[in-house]
Amino acid sequence: MKVLVIGGGAREHALCRSLSLDPEVTALHCAPGNAGTAEVAVSHPVDALDGAAVARLATELEADLVVVGPEAPLVAGVADAVRNAGIPCFGPSKEAAELEGSKAFAKDVMAAANVPTARSYVCTTPEQVDEALDAFGPPYVVKDDGLAAGKGVVVTDDLAAAREHGIACGRVVIEEFLDGPEVSLFAITDGETVLPLQPAQDFKRALDGDEGPNTGGMGAYSPLPWADPKLVDEVLETVLQPTVDELRRRGTPFAGLLYAGLAITRRGVRVIEFNARFGDPETQVVLARLRTPLAGVLLAAAEGNLAELPPLTWRDDAAVTVVVASHNYPDTPRTGDPIEGLDEVAAQDGPDAYVLHAGTRLESGRGDGGDTVVSAGGRVLSVTATGKDLTQARERAYTALGRIRLAGSQHRTDIARTAAGASDASGASGALEG
Ligand code: AMP
Ligand code: GLY
Repeated sequence: MKVLVIGGGAREHALCRSLSLDPEVTALHCAPGNAGTAEVAVSHPVDALDGAAVARLATELEADLVVVGPEAPLVAGVADAVRNAGIPCFGPSKEAAELEGSKAFAKDVMAAANVPTARSYVCTTPEQVDEALDAFGPPYVVKDDGLAAGKGVVVTDDLAAAREHGIACGRVVIEEFLDGPEVSLFAITDGETVLPLQPAQDFKRALDGDEGPNTGGMGAYSPLPWADPKLVDEVLETVLQPTVDELRRRGTPFAGLLYAGLAITRRGVRVIEFNARFGDPETQVVLARLRTPLAGVLLAAAEGNLAELPPLTWRDDAAVTVVVASHNYPDTPRTGDPIEGLDEVAAQDGPDAYVLHAGTRLESGRGDGGDTVVSAGGRVLSVTATGKDLTQARERAYTALGRIRLAGSQHRTDIARTAAGASDASGASGALEG
């Protein structure tokens, strides 16, 4: 099977890595890719947002499957362009991707499908913003309606800050604060059959102890030793299947990866957000644990044959990933700094720990004349490790991370710490992070 992956972040590197380990995959391409995907896939300098160019590339490569990684191409209709060229594509249509592209649309679908979520108002004027903030009280949750790379959400006790963000957004969703640990649950769907993956937890705040601003995600782990074993079945029944059924009923079936961001509140599970693609960095840990070869599953979803697949199988291992971000992320990240130590990780830590590249690129003409990997984005890379439990996986991840040198870089030191502690102290519970 010839596969083309669209995108160039750590999620796409994780997808490429899993696909490269799948014996069914005979050729692997990535556009535009990054310095890491280039180790396992042929890079193509094609704009991921240009549907016609992506479809042309897929046709030229005689791809059997195109996998669209990030949300922006999906919302721009890149999956439609590929399908219109007659090539199976893993990723929802432009219309179905509105589930992520518009928070107001997602709320409408959830209301129609009776999916539990925070009560909310959609506001477009300062008066409506004031009314909504007043109705809910602190902590205030104020969300830009459109795509904002995980940075459009402000959660604060500060009324003035909440008001300022609400008015700046133009169209904004203001909602009830959901109190409880967060879980990311992904499902692969062909628009009808829904196959949930293993849950993971993401760390959204920039700094240790969940301090600092919201980011795209600073680390993740799976499994969740503290979660109710029935959680996945419950979310399938109350969230994932009804949402997929509602989109099919509307004539805009969702085929691809449905990501449910959940809060486990005292009153039950509530949806915080939907995404229309694999999450980053959660994908790094979920795919590290998936035993079933990936390509056939994604192709079955693209072709509408998921019901015929045998159940997915999983490793017993735990997985932890820690993101290394640039100086000044998420504000105005500094780029162009050389990254050292990548070879040392490959030589000393593999295959239990490895680096997945996000914002990196190869620069020639530095140093000894060979290519140098330099930072090219806010989240630069993530170090992913597996182990017999979370304690071993996080030890391996942080050991490998310690070999990487990037001037001014930052990372959290507490990824999976509470969860690892709770699962080691047998019987203890309540490792509620996020
Ligand atoms: P989102 O982009 O919708 O995932 O929001 C980013 C982060 O803001 C989430 O992961 C939560 O940590 C937080 N957040 C969003 N909505 C709520 C809510 N209703 N209550 C509490 N925290 C929230
Ligand atoms: N980790 C959060 C996201 O992918 O949106």
